[in-house]
Amino acid sequence: MKHTWLFVPADDEAKVAKALASSADAVILDLEDGVGEAPERKAGARRILTRVLGQDDTDRRRCYVRINALASDEITLDIPVAVAGGATGVVLPKCEGPQDVVRLAKLLSEAEQRHGRSNATLIVAIATETARGVQLLPKFQHALPRLEALMWGAEDLCSDLRGTSNRGPDGAYVGPYAAARDACLLAARAAGVLAIDAVYIAFRDTEGCKRESQAHKSLGFDAKAAIHPSQLDVIRGCFRPTPAQIEWAHRVLDRFEGGGGATTLDGSMIDTPHVKLARRILEESQKASQPDVPAARQGSNRRIRHLRTPSEDGTC
Ligand code: COA
Ligand code: MG
Repeated sequence: MKHTWLFVPADDEAKVAKALASSADAVILDLEDGVGEAPERKAGARRILTRVLGQDDTDRRRCYVRINALASDEITLDIPVAVAGGATGVVLPKCEGPQDVVRLAKLLSEAEQRHGRSNATLIVAIATETARGVQLLPKFQHALPRLEALMWGAEDLCSDLRGTSNRGPDGAYVGPYAAARDACLLAARAAGVLAIDAVYIAFRDTEGCKRESQAHKSLGFDAKAAIHPSQLDVIRGCFRPTPAQIEWAHRVLDRFEGGGGATTLDGSMIDTPHVKLARRILEESQKASQPDVPAARQGSNRRIRHLRTPSEDGTC
């Protein structure tokens, strides 16, 4: 699972090298807002990207290129750089509904043919940056070819709404920003793609980033975008199941060992959705190969391999 997505302005070669050497699961090489508006800066960034993506030791599986918005003239120059360079995916800003994803998929397909690339470049759409984009989120109802994830962001939305702050005094998102976040999560689930949480721009505030990562992970987000390497460990730590969650999951599965219906645990009712959640927690923890899985639970870990997951039995 890709829990950490690190943005880096593509016009800064030293930072790009640092991002690629970091532990980020995915590196978003930015040709859009992080580079500024001047065409010559964008051109310089594309030159750097071409060089970096062309290097033998660049791990292109982790490379995503944030192109400019579909409405921008830059897009015709950005797409060839990403496709010819063999990036795994492109990140589309200011996405307004599934039609934009379909349009981008066509442009990518044409570029792949031109550059003799056989891989299908994936799409991560940032779908909450304009009021229109937020209003079109409910249109994401089905899987779309190439669409890997929906991401949300509150900075451009604040500008589009002519607001001055997207957070309240306690630091939590307010009003339309919280609504956009929730709509993005719902749309991602309806479309069957990853849901990536917005960046936390106060990058020196580690506690704040941790609080937000925990809160949004518990809402359902799969991952969080980062703007600074120092955020990566914090985010990763929050998006992997905690020892307490793993312990809880084992206890839930223990209660359902012989099958059966609704029962109780710690004074609350548990039934099938809790069993599914418990299985997902244990699967995620196994994938992450967490070293802090309680040793005493190794026997139970072996047991869950025999439990059927929803995708295996198709009944859940
Ligand atoms: N990727 C890779 N390296 C990064 C980085 C990033 N996103 N952000 C910071 N670094 C590097 C710095 O270059 C610096 O390296 P050095 O020690 O070799 O000089 C080191 O990490 C420490 O950086 P720091 O001094 O704490 O921050 P800064 O003032 O240099 O940079 C930002 C602050 C916000 C400008 C920078 O983090 C950044 O560019 N983030 C991404 C911005 C972006 O892409 N925005 C668009 C998407 S929202
Ligand atoms: Mg932006």
